[in-house]
Amino acid sequence: MCVFLLRLKRETSPQHAAIERQIDLRRVLGSRAAYTGHLARLYGFYQPLEEALWGNGAVREAGSAGGERRKTPSLLGDLRALGIEPHALPLCNTLPPVPDEARALGCLYVLEGASLGGQVITRLVRERLGVGPEDGGAFFYGYGEKTGVMWDSFRAALETFARSPERQEAVIGSARATFGALGTWLASGEGRADV
Ligand code: HEM
Repeated sequence: MCVFLLRLKRETSPQHAAIERQIDLRRVLGSRAAYTGHLARLYGFYQPLEEALWGNGAVREAGSAGGERRKTPSLLGDLRALGIEPHALPLCNTLPPVPDEARALGCLYVLEGASLGGQVITRLVRERLGVGPEDGGAFFYGYGEKTGVMWDSFRAALETFARSPERQEAVIGSARATFGALGTWLASGEGRADV
């Protein structure tokens, strides 16, 4: 792996560990209601953030064509399959800023990387809740068998982009800001009644 990608992983790994601890999988996968509530919180973060990201030309060039990296459509489908109308859900308004390519790609690094953990979670969702990609589990299933290919092509695009120290700093800063914003948003939903 290139030096920059290793550094990005290293400098964000404490935040990865923190969010992994924060997302209590035992609770989230403990009932259909808790799982649905977690997806509703993720929708509140991903929907406005992806809207901002894909309004930015940078993301269209990252990896393969932009649209297929959006996760909002699968969150929408999952919530509807689980009996929730997503348009009434609260949306996050303290998002990480993504005004330029570097910050858009730093943010996308976090959202794309989450699909790696999703491969572990998708198996648990089926085992514990009996939910598969077709009936409420599409978000965590993500790219399924194509996960490795999608991750490699994203990392290649990021490596090509992050040539200068300025770009590298901006990508890392944005990735950290994205982990931070998601952690704050998820914490602000804790204690709410599950939907
Ligand atoms: C309980 C929840 C989670 C689990 C079990 C989990 C698990 C994993 C696993 C197994 C990997 C692959 C590690 C490797 O092969 O090197 C990974 C990587 C990653 N995850 Fe998570 N994850 C979780 C939550 C999240 C969340 C919520 C995000 C961000 C929204 C996230 C972002 C990332 C990123 C960016 C990477 C790539 C690190 C790199 O190689 O540069 N993860 N995660």
